[in-house]
Amino acid sequence: MKSYNVAVIGGDGTGPEVTREALKVLAVAGPKFGFKLNYTNYDVGGERYLKTGETLPDSMIEELRKQNAIFLGAIGHPDVKPGILECGILLKARFALDQYINLRPVKLYRTEDCPLKGKEPKDIDFVVIRENTGGIYTGVGGVVQKGTPMEIATQVMIYGRPVVERCVKFAYDYTRRRNRKKMLTLVHKCNVLTYAGDLWVRTHKELGDRDYRDIKQDYNHVDACTMWFVKQPEWYDVIVTENLFGDIITDLAAIIQGGLGVAAGGNINPEGVSMFEPMGGSAPKYTGQNVINPIAAIAAAGMMLDTLGETAAAVAIDKAVTGVLNSGKIKSLAAGKMGMGTTQVGDLVAATI
Ligand code: IPM
Ligand code: MN
Repeated sequence: MKSYNVAVIGGDGTGPEVTREALKVLAVAGPKFGFKLNYTNYDVGGERYLKTGETLPDSMIEELRKQNAIFLGAIGHPDVKPGILECGILLKARFALDQYINLRPVKLYRTEDCPLKGKEPKDIDFVVIRENTGGIYTGVGGVVQKGTPMEIATQVMIYGRPVVERCVKFAYDYTRRRNRKKMLTLVHKCNVLTYAGDLWVRTHKELGDRDYRDIKQDYNHVDACTMWFVKQPEWYDVIVTENLFGDIITDLAAIIQGGLGVAAGGNINPEGVSMFEPMGGSAPKYTGQNVINPIAAIAAAGMMLDTLGETAAAVAIDKAVTGVLNSGKIKSLAAGKMGMGTTQVGDLVAATI
């Protein structure tokens, strides 16, 4: 039997609760589809930082490197200053493990969860591939004369061709494998970002013309893309974009698919170890109340299986989630309004696999 080693970071707030439900579903999927998951728990997050001053130590990165995948519940603590945990844990893992793809499937499961008038599940079903380790997130830049009236600060959208190429290549391969409209939309702002944007535009075209003649090439400026997400989301199949633009449009995408209760993402290193997470935060005020929605975490677990190569099991989880959400049993996707508890939602999905 195939077996995989998975690092589990439950994290802060409601992170451990949603993680439990995801593992509950995986515990059913494993025996059914013939694989085994061996878990190692890592104590990472705001609590640990407050106790020890440590975020994600280098020694832990070295251990994570040896795993087949990482599952992350949520990171975020009301007593920790913003930025410390984001940079010290999430971004550190992305950079150190070179998780250069942020994969965000955007799928509306139920019409009633969509804030857009007249849109149905068939209209909102696309994937955003966000470059995950470059651009403005690299932190290149600086500040001079800080605190004076003449202060100058820069933060640079830096991209090298190899970093753009590997991302665009992943996106083309993904579009081909997805096999729907076979259209890859590049989202950028090349009308203004005539250097950094142009590098993406040329790479998208060159790779497409050379190796992916079966894939349609499409382009949106990022500002226009936000309008089309609202007006005509059914246009999209797969989107590829740079880091900051991707950060912004994937939040918009999350809300049109029904919100953070269902939005899942993967930080992928196609040649290394990837990390999967529900997009919602740690939601500290709901901690321990059994009211948070675990669907996003369960969907993230499905993505993890897909990336590990357990495609049939991943499809089964997606079907189970879709089935449960359309059973009429879950009233709303919002925390505290589901009409049942976190653990009951997990039970329902697990029973449907
Ligand atoms: C995300 C988050 C992170 C980001 C933050 C928490 C650093 O917003 O995963 O989208 O900006 O990438
Ligand atoms: Mn974000």
